[in-house]
Amino acid sequence: MEKNFKRTLITTALPYANGPVHIGHLAGVYVPADIYARYLRLRGREVLMVGGSDEHGVPITIRARKEGITPQNVVDRYHAIIRDSFRELGISFDVYSRTTSPTHAETASEFFEHIDRKGGFIKKKSMQLYDEGAGRFVTDRNVVGECPVCHAQGAYGDQCEKCGSSLNALDLINPRCAETGNVPVLRETEHWYLPLDRWQADLEKWILEGHKEWKTNVYGQCKSWLDLGLQPRAVTRDLDWGIPVPAADAEGKVLYVWFDAPIGYISNTKELLPDTWERWWKDPETRVINFIGKDNIVFHCIIFPAMLMSYGDGFQLPDNVPAMEFLNLEGDKISTSRNWAVWLHEYLRDFPGKQDVLRYVLTANAPEAKDNDFTWADFQTRNNSELVAILGNFVNRVLVLTHKYFGGTVPAAEMNEADRDALAEVARLRTQLEEALETFHFREALKLAMDMARTGNRYLQETEPWKVAKTDMDRTAAILYTALQITASLAVAFEPFLPFMSERLTRILGIEKPEWDSIGSADAVPAGRTIGQPELMFEKIEDDVIQGQLDRLARIKEENKRAAWKPEPQMPDVDFDTFCKMDLRVATVTECVKVPKADKLLRFTLDDGTGTPRTIVSGIAAHYQPEELVGKQVVFIANLPPRKLRGIESQGMILSAQNADGSLTVIAPSAPATPGASVK
Ligand code: MF3
Ligand code: ZN
Repeated sequence: MEKNFKRTLITTALPYANGPVHIGHLAGVYVPADIYARYLRLRGREVLMVGGSDEHGVPITIRARKEGITPQNVVDRYHAIIRDSFRELGISFDVYSRTTSPTHAETASEFFEHIDRKGGFIKKKSMQLYDEGAGRFVTDRNVVGECPVCHAQGAYGDQCEKCGSSLNALDLINPRCAETGNVPVLRETEHWYLPLDRWQADLEKWILEGHKEWKTNVYGQCKSWLDLGLQPRAVTRDLDWGIPVPAADAEGKVLYVWFDAPIGYISNTKELLPDTWERWWKDPETRVINFIGKDNIVFHCIIFPAMLMSYGDGFQLPDNVPAMEFLNLEGDKISTSRNWAVWLHEYLRDFPGKQDVLRYVLTANAPEAKDNDFTWADFQTRNNSELVAILGNFVNRVLVLTHKYFGGTVPAAEMNEADRDALAEVARLRTQLEEALETFHFREALKLAMDMARTGNRYLQETEPWKVAKTDMDRTAAILYTALQITASLAVAFEPFLPFMSERLTRILGIEKPEWDSIGSADAVPAGRTIGQPELMFEKIEDDVIQGQLDRLARIKEENKRAAWKPEPQMPDVDFDTFCKMDLRVATVTECVKVPKADKLLRFTLDDGTGTPRTIVSGIAAHYQPEELVGKQVVFIANLPPRKLRGIESQGMILSAQNADGSLTVIAPSAPATPGASVK
């Protein structure tokens, strides 16, 4: 384990280009990977960070058919949004490419051919569901039917969401294609499989013995897969969107998206460094780190490594796979299809210039060891009470006081013990910060960086330069000199986390090239240098801004409720005579008032054609103002036994429809009807 590495290749899971990226992607993969890459660069290590869009796979084709455009249109659109929003957030990819690039098609095909030539695949025939109407095989996700386990309707070919069973599409009862509604038939097909079982022993040795240092969530998942015994996995599919299988008898077949996507890490490196890419993949002195979310563990720790071993030729396996758990949003699972997310491109639009705030909050709440929740209230608190009140406040005080007392020139100073102690504390925190970052403990690392700012605030609180300045300018000079050195330390230590702030602060302090080792040093900003004007590093975020975001989420929740609504199942049959016993009639509302002390009830007085006013109490007060109903007509059941409601005798029941959002709509004739007319 304690090998000496020359360079680090950081890979980031390729996001599917079937939607924009959201805070879950960022917290799980891109923000931690970026912190790590920036940290290594600051330390002068050789590092490369690669990424790109994952542009194959079934969801992209479904989206394209739904919108009546081509899959290429879909991925072009989202690749651009994803790439631009990453750039704006300061994710410092050395290359961000895509799996529809020619280099990738070439690399992935060659990868497949090479393994095939070495006899690394087996071919197997199987029966698959085929949609004759659409002329294509139906993927597991794309069939619905009755669950063979719990008999719920609407189970998917791979899983029943009602009982959670994982299913085989062929076992669904009454299967239908989810998109076309057609009943699929069985058709034989042949596919290439990667025999993972052949690699079982090597993988066990490599992970279970060789990588006990991996995070427990990662190691544990690998162990349970290995304990189950690995099976051959199909690496080709009958689809028309993907990289064509480069083999004879492979008409209409493409590489499985999870076969081609991880090869994207290699193609992206190649695209950036056509001549030297192999140094990053085949040199044992290169260390590969895969940043991923927990749903990607098996692909990165078992399947892709088995592919690399099958290929051979010196390809290095990852040295670590620091997978994150999931981030939820306001207590619910983030979902692209349900639009339950904070989308990066929308955040950037709604919070211009606040990239660092999002990076900060997502790191402080990183779902490192367990799933975690993003809430807008926490976002606001972390901004206002941490970034503004601790970090921003310290920096601002130091810059303002330097201008106030020394005209913006760093004063020459004689430091005393308290000054040296403060800087020693910062240097101590730097060592801890290194340890946390090297071991992928990003939350802890951010906390340690904040502790440096806290150290600065404490130092100012204790030395009180604003008081000392009244009597002793030499001592004031030493205090501000020291505080400026701490400020310089913060500018460097926060660079991996808050690169935008760091950039502004180093510019103000005149630091040309931030050096990690300068953290805690006593001469990062030399006496005599003139620093720039103070700027506020962070601003308070007000309640109305947060409320705006919460309102948006509430609207989405409503829309989802409406979209998920289904009519109630039909009731058991009644015979016609029973139906005829119900006396349904039209009446005109002559009076309508709220029933005192009852939120839900309205009291109606009706003209039912008999000449005697009829009183009915109805529970629709939440949905109507009583005045608006006067003069309207309603349909009511006349022959229900009278009931007392809040002391009022109700003589029947007014009919209303219960809508998807829970609201009620009173049923009325489509044109004026005679009061008392029977409804037949
Ligand atoms: N697109 C996949 C996902 O979002 C990740 C692919 S990672 C790669 O879950 F390694 F395959 F590229
Ligand atoms: Zn079920």
